[in-house]
Amino acid sequence: MTTERVSIHGQWSSRLAFILAATGSAVGLGNIWKFPYIAGENGGGAFVLVYLMCIAVIGIPIMMAEVMLGRRGRQSPINTMRTLASEEGVSRHWQWLGWAGVLAGFLILSYYSVIAGWALAYVFRAGSGLFTGQTADGIQSIFTSLTSDPERLLAWHTLFMVMTMVVVARGVRSGLETAVRLLMPALFVLLLVLVGYAWNSGAFEQGIEFLFTPDFSKITADGVLIAMGHAFFTLSLGMGAIMVYGSYLPDNASIAKTSIAVSLMDTLVALLAGMAIFPIVFANGLEPGLGAGLIFTTLPIAFGHMDGGAFFGMLFFILLVFAAWTSAISLIEPAVAWMVENMGLNRIHASVLAGVVTWLVGLLTVFSFNIWSDVTPLSGIPIFHDKTIFDLLDYLTANIMLPLGGLLIAVFAAWQMRKSSSADELAMGEGFFYTLWRFLVRYITPLAVVIVFLHVIDII
Ligand code: PHE
Repeated sequence: MTTERVSIHGQWSSRLAFILAATGSAVGLGNIWKFPYIAGENGGGAFVLVYLMCIAVIGIPIMMAEVMLGRRGRQSPINTMRTLASEEGVSRHWQWLGWAGVLAGFLILSYYSVIAGWALAYVFRAGSGLFTGQTADGIQSIFTSLTSDPERLLAWHTLFMVMTMVVVARGVRSGLETAVRLLMPALFVLLLVLVGYAWNSGAFEQGIEFLFTPDFSKITADGVLIAMGHAFFTLSLGMGAIMVYGSYLPDNASIAKTSIAVSLMDTLVALLAGMAIFPIVFANGLEPGLGAGLIFTTLPIAFGHMDGGAFFGMLFFILLVFAAWTSAISLIEPAVAWMVENMGLNRIHASVLAGVVTWLVGLLTVFSFNIWSDVTPLSGIPIFHDKTIFDLLDYLTANIMLPLGGLLIAVFAAWQMRKSSSADELAMGEGFFYTLWRFLVRYITPLAVVIVFLHVIDII
């Protein structure tokens, strides 16, 4: 029997609506901005292979676990964890997992919003024809003049936070569902157009080879951690975003099928982004390891040289903003849902409060690209060497907090929860697929995360 609990925040109108919302959460800057640049920094093929393996054996099972917990608890992740822990007769301390997720959400959104601000700024730069006919150097200096100006970054960051809070305040269902329904397919088509351009760039093969030919001498323990962390990041796992979306999922929807669909779409978008970007990198003699500015310094070259480039460029950055927007909403939803449940706030007040806090933390990232670009607070620790505040926030959240959150979700779902409870909620029988899921979540996820962590800190 499934539980009779209903969420006070409402429910998705259908299974498809959930798939769209979860895909909206998963597909974001992680796929189009982050995946190409970290693949570039970590040597390409081998990194991509590790990432794909992590998606398959860790990501999909953990997504199922998160949706399952969310739908069973039907509350914010904090209260869901508390309720489920008491139902399963285990420690109340499991609610801390919800709190850690809320913290991770704030920290991620604080820098996510700044980068989304770059995309907003680029909508106007592309649309005004600024990229037309520019050389790689010219494009680079357009990027630098944006990031070196704290006032401009702040303005775009503020705008993006306001946009996010407006949608969150309205509730997840109205607006979001429709937006995702139209925009995700559009983004997909535009990425295909860009891959088409890259195809003719003269370096398509080189780009594909870089992405898909694994050379294991190029990957380090840290690279493996980054690939694993990114699998969590790109699928929105380990912090409660997918859990809270799961809490709005209708009872009769298949958790396994929806999770697989979302993961496949997310992966496809990331690979398409890589296939669009690396040929342009090589065709223009650029370095794959350019870092966080990679898409902002490569794709404009393509837009600057193609027919109708100003239009396509503008469209591309608009879609990127939308992809970021639908992810940003899910980063803050666990906190907002909790505030509504426990602080007696309405959604509007809760959104404003969460938005202001995130906006303030975002200042750290704004300044870390200019006035604090030399500040590397934890340089004494080898794995944090040379990392700016932005780098640290990104590393700490994506590579440490999310995998740790995922590990604990796995432990809860497969060790603390009764088998009958998870089997009941997943509703896929107790056959081969359920057994495989439980095996992956019970053994493989915890082991993989622990082994990778120990490798990075050089214990094994
Ligand atoms: N998955 C989003 C992206 O790839 C980022 C995200 C992470 C969203 C964690 C929610 C939770 O851009």
